[in-house]
Amino acid sequence: MDNLKIVSNPLISRDITYLRNKETKEYQFRLALRRIAYALAIEISNEFELREFEVETPLEITKGYNLKKQVVLVPVLRAGLSLVNSFIEMIPNAKVGHIGLQRDEKTLKPIDYYYKAPKNLDTSKVIVLDPMLATGGSASAAFQFLKDKGANDCVMASLIAAPEGVKRLTKEHPDVPIYTAMLDRELNENGYILPGLGDAGDRTFGTL
Ligand code: PRP
Ligand code: URA
Repeated sequence: MDNLKIVSNPLISRDITYLRNKETKEYQFRLALRRIAYALAIEISNEFELREFEVETPLEITKGYNLKKQVVLVPVLRAGLSLVNSFIEMIPNAKVGHIGLQRDEKTLKPIDYYYKAPKNLDTSKVIVLDPMLATGGSASAAFQFLKDKGANDCVMASLIAAPEGVKRLTKEHPDVPIYTAMLDRELNENGYILPGLGDAGDRTFGTL
């Protein structure tokens, strides 16, 4: 699992526990998601290249830095929306695309219902946001959409991943590094991650 990067620290371990706990209320669930997303954004930013330029302080001219590439965030609807704001706070000039995918409950295959992405994906750093990487079907389909539109520098940001999803995404998109805050044990017969946190979209948006 060479492509996998697990982002861990004590605050993330505590926040994953909030997410797992079925008694956690929506507002605490959302706040924990938001905090972990900040940590993911910072870790992923280690991939970014910088452009150097001169900046004038009140005292003298010195070196300054900016991101070399435009960053494009692509949340997979719905649950991926919960990660967008933290990333935008860290990368305020990021553009945002959206991909609507819903897993068919029986086949577990993703059905696409919406796609909108900014132009110039070919020169951008494209980060797909989805808290759950389960079978990997949704993430793989999202990257295929984006690559078909020219994306060639892509990253996956997830909160909880199953080994099955990591394996599939690595096989189908070997160029995409996968960042996650937790690698869980396995999928159950319904394609849910164990121990997991349940349905991320339903728990975030209160549609249980
Ligand atoms: C969830 C999750 C991922 C997908 C992961 O979305 O947010 O997009 O399942 O599963 P996979 O790796 O097996 O494809 P879901 O289809 O439940 O839609 P929702 O976000 O609208 O609830
Ligand atoms: N989607 C979720 O929201 N949770 C899982 O465990 C698997 C897919």
